[in-house]
Amino acid sequence: MKENNTPKTIRLSEYQAPNYLIDTVHLDVRIYEHYTDVISHLAVRANPDVPTASGQPLELVGVELELLGIEQDGATLALDHFRIDGEVLTIKDVPDQFTLLIMTRIHPKQNTSLEGLYVSKGMYCTQCEAEGFRKITYYLDRPDVMSRFTTRVEAPKQAYPVLLSNGNPVERGDLDDGRHYVIWEDPFKKPCYLFALVAGDLSVVEDHFTTSSGRDVLLQLYVEPHDLDKCEHAMDSLKRSMAWDEEVYGREYDLDIYMIVAVSHFNMGAMENKGLNIFNTSCVLANAKTTTDMGFQRVESVIAHEYFHNWSGNRVTCRDWFQLSLKEGFTVFRDQQFSADMGSETVNRIDDVNMLKTVQFAEDSGPMSHPVRPDSYIEINNFYTTTVYEKGAEVVRMIHRLMGKDGFRKGSDLYFERHDGQAVTCDDFVQAMEDANGVDLTLFRRWYSQAGTPHLKVTSEYVSDQNQFSITFEQTTLPTPGQPEKLPLHIPVAIGLLGADGKDLALQLSDGTVLDPLNPVLELKQAKQTFRFNGIKEQPVASVLRGFSAPVKLFYEQERAELAFLMSHDSDGFNRWNASQRLTVEVLLDLMSAYQEQKPLYVDSLLLESFRALLADESLDQAMVAKMLELPTEQFLAELLPKPVQVDAIHHAREGLKRELACGLRQELQQVINRCHMDPEYHYNVDAVAKRSLRNVCLAYVMTLADDEATELCLSQYREAGNMTDQLAAFRALAHSERSEKTQVIADFYQQWSSEALVVDQWFMVQASSPQPDALDNVQALMQHEAFEMTSPNKIRALIGAFCNNNPVNFHRLDGAGYAFLADQIIALNNINPQVASRMSTILTRWANYDRVRADLIKAQLTRIKAEKLSPDVYEIVSKALN
Ligand code: PHE
Ligand code: ZN
Repeated sequence: MKENNTPKTIRLSEYQAPNYLIDTVHLDVRIYEHYTDVISHLAVRANPDVPTASGQPLELVGVELELLGIEQDGATLALDHFRIDGEVLTIKDVPDQFTLLIMTRIHPKQNTSLEGLYVSKGMYCTQCEAEGFRKITYYLDRPDVMSRFTTRVEAPKQAYPVLLSNGNPVERGDLDDGRHYVIWEDPFKKPCYLFALVAGDLSVVEDHFTTSSGRDVLLQLYVEPHDLDKCEHAMDSLKRSMAWDEEVYGREYDLDIYMIVAVSHFNMGAMENKGLNIFNTSCVLANAKTTTDMGFQRVESVIAHEYFHNWSGNRVTCRDWFQLSLKEGFTVFRDQQFSADMGSETVNRIDDVNMLKTVQFAEDSGPMSHPVRPDSYIEINNFYTTTVYEKGAEVVRMIHRLMGKDGFRKGSDLYFERHDGQAVTCDDFVQAMEDANGVDLTLFRRWYSQAGTPHLKVTSEYVSDQNQFSITFEQTTLPTPGQPEKLPLHIPVAIGLLGADGKDLALQLSDGTVLDPLNPVLELKQAKQTFRFNGIKEQPVASVLRGFSAPVKLFYEQERAELAFLMSHDSDGFNRWNASQRLTVEVLLDLMSAYQEQKPLYVDSLLLESFRALLADESLDQAMVAKMLELPTEQFLAELLPKPVQVDAIHHAREGLKRELACGLRQELQQVINRCHMDPEYHYNVDAVAKRSLRNVCLAYVMTLADDEATELCLSQYREAGNMTDQLAAFRALAHSERSEKTQVIADFYQQWSSEALVVDQWFMVQASSPQPDALDNVQALMQHEAFEMTSPNKIRALIGAFCNNNPVNFHRLDGAGYAFLADQIIALNNINPQVASRMSTILTRWANYDRVRADLIKAQLTRIKAEKLSPDVYEIVSKALN
């Protein structure tokens, strides 16, 4: 572990092309019981693009490696020719072209960081992004060094019958002592972060895909034998992703084989290694009995995401890690487009925006705020953030809106063609969009370099005697760390004006411009701008930022009646939903003041009646109705509302509103529950998902009353459900209630599902997010449960993560016990798995959003953590949080 006194800051401004390139790599990985030997054969040459490269020493990086030997051009390298200094192996006096043979020994079984080569439930697997390859062998571990890899994997045959690596298998054979080997060849050059290797006792599900040019691709999904019944959905999603990328982006798969391996111990969702994706079991396994609809959706989108990386990430990769959003922002945008095409576009958009506003906006207003293309980092693993991913996707989405569908496609075609086989920058992406469309995106580029969420203040005025409606936008961005001054951004604002009949009016600006009725967008480029619409014969209701056309915080005062009007008439589904959220927030604010003044809660009948209408109208999109009925989460409200966060008022207002609505709408809720009856058979399609989601939203409302009738309803749904979506919904409603029946149900659920790790995760999660005051005690007790494992990121996220992220009222207890608990876990995890520890510690970076008492308690825990000997991962977060 690195000392925390001198962590090095890496800066984009200091980027230098590599002095040496590696054309080919031959890896020989020999797995033994107690260690693994890695023999690496590299063909190295000086970089012809760097005039000063020739004669420079070669510097390779390696972490936690035991160097067994090193040869240059076939001769053992004398001790005075190389030097190891920390993580750097320096070789002096190298010629312009030479070979290196490096032998190292590693200990995968002791590797709990889940980075490099490690063991997950007896299976060897690798994770090399971002800088894990250096834990396997000494290398030029940077994405702009791209090589052709040949990999020989050797292991005991009985324990590890399956040996995989990137590309195609070209040779296999048996050896003495019950060992065997397989040789893999990847014809595409790649950076080492895309290298992968797997050795294990795995079952395989196979299928085929024929590409548009008629090539046959073998699809393989490797899982533990016990999970063979959970592969169908992923395989199906994969085939749909392959077809979609051909159709929408003209991108065909390029190898003869595409493999996916499911592993239970994994730091992230999944990894796009060339031809050999490695997936967290939670993002690939699914069946009706064990997986919720949300789980199915997640599998579909992550399968697509990793598949899409084959072009946006692998064929065209990143020059350096500051460009991470080049592949991640673009690929998230692509997977979002895919999910929208597979299901409901509006519902997907709502979910994505909710997550952006809750998590990314919070990140962007705290001490870890950074641009989509960061300027500096201490530990790159800390920059796999929602800013790089989700805000990055929003930036690509804005380009899509500005170029239009066809223009965007022209741009992406040019990008892929121009940069195939290269390691490039975010700027190259924008340049391709500009060149293909003949536009200038100079100003737009600020989205990549400027951190922080722009605030967009909107005012409007209707002048009836001129038939003119004018709307004024003022954009400001608050300072963020290292960026005190902010500049105006190029913001596309999709807009509509609704007439009294609820229909969109034709939009003509005072300068004569007619806005495209299919995509009416105002382009803001200045700090303050006014647009005047002519020919508006009646006072309209404005629908601003349709489809959430830019990642900004919108401030636009509209009457409750206007919101209710938009809620039932806006032609933009997203804004219809958004209007209902805004109205709900208004009502919650009433309830928060009532709570603080200890007055009785009164719910505005406008909301109650709007919800009543929603429940009754079967002609509406039922998934949308469910979304509109779902109250904003406490975390969302914490981010949205003025600071300091009113933790308790938010909680009690929200709980109170749920109860009041349940009380006032009980009949209607019950009718919907009856109408959306449970089906004996499970189907994963838009209508079936919509129906289940609506039923279960209603069930949760009814159960807030927790009377005998509601309890019986939940109990019978819990018992009779034929799928995890319905069973878990009933389970959650019971487990979060005060009813004594829950004790039995909680025990029963575990009994039923103890052999399904992913269901046990759900079981932990439900208990960790209980609003009841004993939640923390329960979480602490569950840490000792037989199914809990401190070395499993999924378990940590399910128990510790769910408690700290999804249970604000208990995590932010005024006695500070929640904070102390989290700090204890971070300190423990820092030694086991720095990446997971650092993710957990980001929760504490939000201290400034809380009242003095809580802020001081959180800071005290940060200080306590900082006094430990920390990994660079945790050190970076904690020190920035205390700055
Ligand atoms: N590149 C992966 C993805 O987004 C995420 C990942 C990053 C996985 C780092 C593991 C480690 O698809
Ligand atoms: Zn990705």
